[in-house]
Amino acid sequence: MIVEDIRKNLKTRLIGRQIHYFAELGSTQELAIYMAENNSEAVNGTVIVAEQQDKGRGRLKSRWISPDGGIWLSIIVKPYMHASKSTLLSFAAALTVCETITQETRLESKVKWPNDILINHKKVCGILLDAATKGDRVEYAVIGIGINVNVNIEEILPYLDNDKHNAQSVTSLKNELSGKCVNRPAFLRLLLEKFELYYDRLQKEDGSPIIVNNIKDRLEYNSVSIDQGNRTIEGVIIGLGLDGSLLIKQNDGSSVGVSFGDTRTRE
Ligand code: BTN
Repeated sequence: MIVEDIRKNLKTRLIGRQIHYFAELGSTQELAIYMAENNSEAVNGTVIVAEQQDKGRGRLKSRWISPDGGIWLSIIVKPYMHASKSTLLSFAAALTVCETITQETRLESKVKWPNDILINHKKVCGILLDAATKGDRVEYAVIGIGINVNVNIEEILPYLDNDKHNAQSVTSLKNELSGKCVNRPAFLRLLLEKFELYYDRLQKEDGSPIIVNNIKDRLEYNSVSIDQGNRTIEGVIIGLGLDGSLLIKQNDGSSVGVSFGDTRTRE
């Protein structure tokens, strides 16, 4: 990927003004967190991008397989934001990815709460949010985005845990486009530009409801089963809170708000 091209044509004020590019890296997320913690150079909007990661990290302590052909990046932001709203940063990233996919490929994508992106019910992108707070404010957040762009999924499948419900349901943009490759620099540039729009919107008073509503329109399932480790909540999604939590009507008729967990589809 020619990062110079991205730098030259990028129309952002903040996001990606600093891009650190690596042909190989352990994890963009770990480096970004390290920089945000220890390095005053980690200015708001810094982006770390790698062609390959050998220690890519997924949600819930899972591995994230990151071969050549994907877009693996982490964005460091230092928003002026109440800590309770930090989840919305990953929603902003999810919407950004969906819109970039539509614009660059015409493929339709959906969001599986909290922040997997699916095409034809298969996962094409995962998003990871690490936020540090000071008092009731977000000090910094690192948004990790992994997109299987031109990845050959045969390369990923052997590494997936067969016990995991999503083991066979992985795809890439190239796979969905019958083998046609996507222009990754153009994709990444658009992604950073769109993310900045959502990021700016989030800082505004009325930004959160817009983001929550947009996510609601893109949610993949109505009926869900949320695995919270020690309990499972089953029911129908009836809404989303302004903090990004899911409102679920359970099978016994009672309603419950859910702010974390791993979502499964229910037939
Ligand atoms: C998930 O489990 O769905 C989240 C996956 C997030 C992967 C991305 S790739 C770029 C960044 N660096 C990492 O190590 N992880 C995130």
